[in-house]
Amino acid sequence: MGAETAGDGPVNEILLGGVELRKSFGSTPALDGAALAVRPGEIVAIMGPSGSGKSTLLHCLAGIVAPDSGTVTFQGQDLARLSDRQRSALRRSEFGFVFQFGQLVPELSCVENVALPLRLSGVRRREAEKTALDWMARLEVESLGRKRPGEVSGGQGQRVAVARALVTAPKVIFADEPTGALDSLNGEQVMRLLVATARDSGAAVVLVTHEARVAAYSDREVVVRDGRTRQVELVP
Ligand SMILES: Nc1ncnc2c1ncn2[C@@H]1O[C@H](COP(=O)(O)OP(=O)(O)O)[C@@H](O)[C@H]1O
Ligand SMILES: [Mg+2]
Repeated sequence: MGAETAGDGPVNEILLGGVELRKSFGSTPALDGAALAVRPGEIVAIMGPSGSGKSTLLHCLAGIVAPDSGTVTFQGQDLARLSDRQRSALRRSEFGFVFQFGQLVPELSCVENVALPLRLSGVRRREAEKTALDWMARLEVESLGRKRPGEVSGGQGQRVAVARALVTAPKVIFADEPTGALDSLNGEQVMRLLVATARDSGAAVVLVTHEARVAAYSDREVVVRDGRTRQVELVP
């Protein structure tokens, strides 16, 4: 899909786009005409105060929440036109997720957690765990393989979560306050490795944060306020 402007080379290609997004929870408007476009490999930070609609925007873009109106497209395809099953399959194969608290499965070892998305896609254990360990090495947590999430630090757990998000080589990583529960040193390390590995693998990153220091790792910032976005234009 080319952008609407002239010069439809890969530079203007839009991987993921949301336009005119509105979403209310009861009488509370969370999104009120938000828009965002992400190009392949681009790292975009969604900034804004608490309650402004950042997470709702991320959930709409990721196909987790259906907007009341407006359109989300991924590779030119309208997510609303997919069945639930197709949307789940898309999320599993093309998207990776990192949340504020790693949300690792406590009963599984770290390497089993990282391998899980591959196992769910039918990859055999040995191969899945080998790939998982490769990603863990890139996130500098390969030595934690057999430990359970409860036995590792917060920063280590988030790096395991980033490895899990990347293990299927997704096109987009959605990260909602990925350093929100970490001290600044661990937060910097998670961001440095998240950005480096995403760039290596060519994945775009949609990063929700309210910290300027975290947003500084992005290529571009979009500000959400009262459910509306600012600075959505694509800077060549
Ligand atoms: N599941 C939900 N049920 C009810 N209200 C919600 C829900 N999710 C978000 N909201 C409301 O929508 C608004 C935006 O929330 P959210 O997108 O989580 O903001 P942010 O991530 O910027 O803090 C807030 O007023 C919040 O209380
Ligand atoms: Mg939020």
